[in-house]
Amino acid sequence: MARIAHLSDVHFGAHDPAVIAGAEAWLAEQRPDLVVVSGDFTQRARVDQYRLAAAFLDRLESAGLPTLGVPGNHDVPLYDVVRRFARPLHRYRRFIDDDLCPWFENERCAVLGINTARSLTIKDGRINREQMAIIRERFRDVGDDRTRILVTHHPLFAMPIGEEGALTKVVGRHQDALEAVSEAGVHILLAGHFHRTFSRSAREMVENSGPALVIQAGTATSTRLRAGEAQSFNLIHAVRNDEIDLQVIAWSGTQFEGRGEARFTFDGEAWHSRPVKES
Ligand SMILES: [Fe+2]
Ligand SMILES: [Fe+2]
Repeated sequence: MARIAHLSDVHFGAHDPAVIAGAEAWLAEQRPDLVVVSGDFTQRARVDQYRLAAAFLDRLESAGLPTLGVPGNHDVPLYDVVRRFARPLHRYRRFIDDDLCPWFENERCAVLGINTARSLTIKDGRINREQMAIIRERFRDVGDDRTRILVTHHPLFAMPIGEEGALTKVVGRHQDALEAVSEAGVHILLAGHFHRTFSRSAREMVENSGPALVIQAGTATSTRLRAGEAQSFNLIHAVRNDEIDLQVIAWSGTQFEGRGEARFTFDGEAWHSRPVKES
């Protein structure tokens, strides 16, 4: 029974300090097993922005909350061309985590982070063959009782973007990546990047995707909001590996609070959802 808080796109440099404080207060009180941050720690990969992000992680760790993060496209310098190509993630590794394939495991879950941010593309991510091998290897010996979770900044799937039928771009080599995810028996795929909350069975999106549940987070703390969405993050409660509750925790203007909950059940083929309650 794992409880994971899934934050994304915190964008220090374009953040709201009151929302940061609210997120910390909520996390300290709810005490999830792990706090995941799926990329875009900073707005422009500047040192002062990285310092704020690092201090945020330090405060969570000091409160006894383990954290796991992956870089996003905003964590690679955009305008500093030398730094962008020569040492794209130097600051990320210095301030956030030297490990670009972070791993967390306890008796309830196993969580792997994979870096999809690249220098050559401004926004679109990519997964390479070495990373696919890591996905297969890391989950190979994980016990069946643990929930297997893969974290990336860019979603592995094309996401619906409003108008009927319109889809976002997917990460490079996404078919191969989906095969690795399927073979590794990953239960949940966590990502961000689009600043929009979303969840769906992978099989409903791509036929040969394997049985994972796709969960996207909105932006947790930044002022870069989609129209009609408040800052939010997800609380994922893996009751069992065929039963997952997902609660969206949204900013009310003064604090974070639960905004409805969905229960997903797995029937051996795909995940199916039904709302549990609206609050
Ligand atoms: Fe972002
Ligand atoms: Fe992004």
